Amino acid sequence: MSNHLNFDYSYLEAEEKAKVAISLSGTYWITTFGCQMNKADSERMAGILESIGYQIAPSEHEADLVLYNTCTIRDSAEQKVYSYLGRQAQRKRTNPHIILIVAGCVAQQEGASLLRRVPEIDLVMGPQQTNRLSYLLSQVENGQQVIATEESYILEDITNARRESSVCGWVNVVYGCNERCTYCVVPSVRGKEQSRLPESIKMEMEILATQGFREVTLLGQNVDAYGRDLAGISPEGRRHNTLTALLYFVHEVKGINRIRFATSHPRYFTERLIEACSNLSKVCEHFHIPCQSGDDEVLKTMARGYNVDRYYRIVDRIRSRMPDASISADIIVAFPGETDTQYQRTLELVEKVGFDQVNTAAYSPRPNTPASNWSIQVDERIKVERLQQLNSLVEKKAFERSKRYLNRIEEILIEGLNPKDSNQFMGRTRSNRLTFFPTHTSKGKSYTYGDLVMVKIKEIRAFSLTGTLL
Ligand code: 5AD
Ligand code: SF4
Repeated sequence: MSNHLNFDYSYLEAEEKAKVAISLSGTYWITTFGCQMNKADSERMAGILESIGYQIAPSEHEADLVLYNTCTIRDSAEQKVYSYLGRQAQRKRTNPHIILIVAGCVAQQEGASLLRRVPEIDLVMGPQQTNRLSYLLSQVENGQQVIATEESYILEDITNARRESSVCGWVNVVYGCNERCTYCVVPSVRGKEQSRLPESIKMEMEILATQGFREVTLLGQNVDAYGRDLAGISPEGRRHNTLTALLYFVHEVKGINRIRFATSHPRYFTERLIEACSNLSKVCEHFHIPCQSGDDEVLKTMARGYNVDRYYRIVDRIRSRMPDASISADIIVAFPGETDTQYQRTLELVEKVGFDQVNTAAYSPRPNTPASNWSIQVDERIKVERLQQLNSLVEKKAFERSKRYLNRIEEILIEGLNPKDSNQFMGRTRSNRLTFFPTHTSKGKSYTYGDLVMVKIKEIRAFSLTGTLL
C-alpha cells in the first residue's frame, strides 16, 4: 500500500485482520483538555467506543473506561492531567477491571514514562492514533499494557463521531504542523502536516448537513497549510490544494449555513483568502489570527516568520473588505528575553488593533523546544504582572468592540440553552460573539436548535451579549 505522504502503512492491513470483533458493554467517560483539535478527537473516540458497545457513564467515578485526552501546550495543562490521573489510579487499585487510557499530547510527549509514573494506565496513545482506538483496545483486552505513539499516517475518518453539539461541527482539514515556533510543543507531538482530501472533507460536511448540523469549523493547527501536501494526489486534491480553494469547493454543501476556520497563521494568510471570505456568503466574518507578540525582535526569536507591520496589513485588509469583521488572537507574554519595552509594544498592538477577543498566556517552557533551553527566562513575578495587565487591556478593548452591537439586529444560530438559564437560548453572531436571548418571542413564537433567528441586542458585556428575539 502507498499513500501521498510516503508512510508505510502496511501494518493497517494486519490490524484489520487482527481486529477482534470486540463487543463490550461497559460505560465510558472522556475528559478533554486543551484545544478544539482535542475536542474533535474526543468526539471521534467517543463515537468509536459507542460503536463497539460502550455507553456513556453517569459520571467519571462510575465509568468502566476512563479516557483522558490530554494537552501539553503549557505546563499547567500537563500538571492538571497528573492530578486527574492520580484519582483514577487510586480507584483502579480497588476496581482492577477499570480501563484507564491517556490519549492526546501528553501521551505522545511522555510515552512509556507515563506508565512508569502511573503503572495503572492500560493504554497510552498519541493524537495520531485517534482512529485506531478500537484496535488498540482489543490489545488491552488481550491483557497487554499498550503504548501507541509512533508517527503514523492518519486514517481517513470513517467513524461516526459522537458530537457534543447537534448544530456546530468540527471538521479536521489538516493534521499536524510543519512550523517550528521556538516555544511550541505541537509539532513534536502532533507530527507533520497531513491534509485530508477535499472530497472527504466535503462528504463529511454533507453528512453533517443531513444530520441537522448548520455550522462547520474547518480545523487545522495551522489551517493555512491546508493542501500543501496534496499536489499530484487526486484530481480534486490538485484543484483544491489551498484553504481558499477548499472554501470555494465546500461552500456549495446544501444545509450548512455557516462556515468558519481556525487557526490562521499571519505568515501564510493571503489576500485571496480575504477575498474568498468576503465573496462567500456562508463564510463568517471572524478571523482567529494569533499574533503572539507586538515586537519584531521577539517575533524573530519565536521564529514566526512575519513582522508586526505584516500583521497590521492583514488586519487593515480584512477591515477594508469586511468593516465589521471580528478579529481574535493568541498572545504570549514574557517570552525568554522579552524586555519591558518589547512587552509594551504588545500592549500597543492590542490597543491599536482592538481585538474582539485574545487568548493570553505567560510563556511556559516546554520539553524539546528551543526556547526552553535559553538562559534568559523571565522572572515569574514579571510573568504574572504582564499577564494581568494584558488581560485587563484585552477585556477593556473587547468591551469597546462589543459596543457596536448595542441596539443592532444580529443573525444568531441557536446552538442550545444558556447553561445558566434554561429560559434562554445561546448562540453566536456571525462574528462569533456569544449571545443569549429568551426562548420565545413576545408573541409566543418559539424556535429550536439549529434555527437562524434575528435578535435585537439589548445588553453588552466584554465577551457576550443579551438580546430579544424579533
Ligand atoms: N507557553 C505559553 N503559551 C504557548 N502557546 C503555545 N506554546 C506556548 C508556550 N510554551 C500558546 C500560543 C498558541 C496557543 C495555542 O498557545 O499562543 O497560539
Ligand atoms: Fe505551534 Fe507555531 Fe505550529 Fe501554531 S504554527 S501549532 S504555534 S508551531
